[in-house]
Amino acid sequence: MTKRRPLVAGNWKMNGSRTESAALLDGIKKGMSSASKAEVAVCPPYILIPLAAEKLVGSAVAWGGQNLSAHESGAYTGEISGPMLRDYGCTYVIVGHSERRTLYGENDAMVAEKYGAAQAVGLIPILCVGETLQEREVNRTEAVVARQLDVVLGKHGIGSFRNAVVAYEPVWAIGTGKTATPRQAQDVHRFIRSRLAARDKTVAESTRILYGGSMKGGNAGELLTQPDIDGGLIGGASLQAEEFLTICRAAD
Ligand code: PGA
Repeated sequence: MTKRRPLVAGNWKMNGSRTESAALLDGIKKGMSSASKAEVAVCPPYILIPLAAEKLVGSAVAWGGQNLSAHESGAYTGEISGPMLRDYGCTYVIVGHSERRTLYGENDAMVAEKYGAAQAVGLIPILCVGETLQEREVNRTEAVVARQLDVVLGKHGIGSFRNAVVAYEPVWAIGTGKTATPRQAQDVHRFIRSRLAARDKTVAESTRILYGGSMKGGNAGELLTQPDIDGGLIGGASLQAEEFLTICRAAD
C-alpha cells in the first residue's frame, strides 16, 4: 500500500489586500516546521500570486491558483492560463470548485477541460467534487460525486490521477460552519477511492483525497485521522496563520 503524504491547501478565495496577504504569508512561513510531514500550499487570488511566489520561494510552502482558463493564450479577456500560473511557480491549481460550478456556470465538461489544461503544463489539479444539501437529502451523494469524477476519468483516464488531487467538498459544508461528520466524510472518501480503484487499484491507493468544508483547527484532527482523508482544502480558516498552522500540524 502506498503511503500518501498529507496535503493541506489554503483556498483564500477573493480575500486579502497586499499588506494583509504579506503578513499572512510571513506568518505561515514562520510557523511552518521544516520537519513537517504534511505538504502545505496556499492558493491566493491571481493578483497575489507574484507576492506568494516572492515570499515563499525556497520555503516548504507551495502555492497555486484557484482556477485557470482551459486555453493556453489568446483572446480570452479576463482569464489566466495554466502557462501563466506555471510561469509564477505555481505547483497546484484548484479545478471545479463548487463556487465556480454554481456561480460561474462551470459544468463537468468544462471542469474536465481545465483539469487537462492544468496537467498539460505540469500543474497538479485539485479536482473538487461534492453534493448539495438537496442532493444529499435525496440520497444522491454518491451518484453526483461519481458523475463528477467519471467525466474527468472518461476524458483523461485513470493514469492522470497519478498527478492530481481530489477534494471532496460537500457544498452544504462550504463556508457554512457546518462540517461533515468524520463518518460522513470518510464514507464519501472511501467511495471516491473505490471509484478510482475500479479502474486502477495502485493509482487509487496513491491518490490524495482532501476534505473541504468548514475544516478548522478544532475539527481537523478527527477528520484527518480517517483512513481515506489525506488532508484538507481550507477556505475561511486559511486566512489566519495560526488557525491554518493548527490544521497543518494536525495533518502531520
Ligand atoms: P471553507 O471553504 O473552509 O470556508 O468552508 C472550503 C472551500 O471552499 O474550499
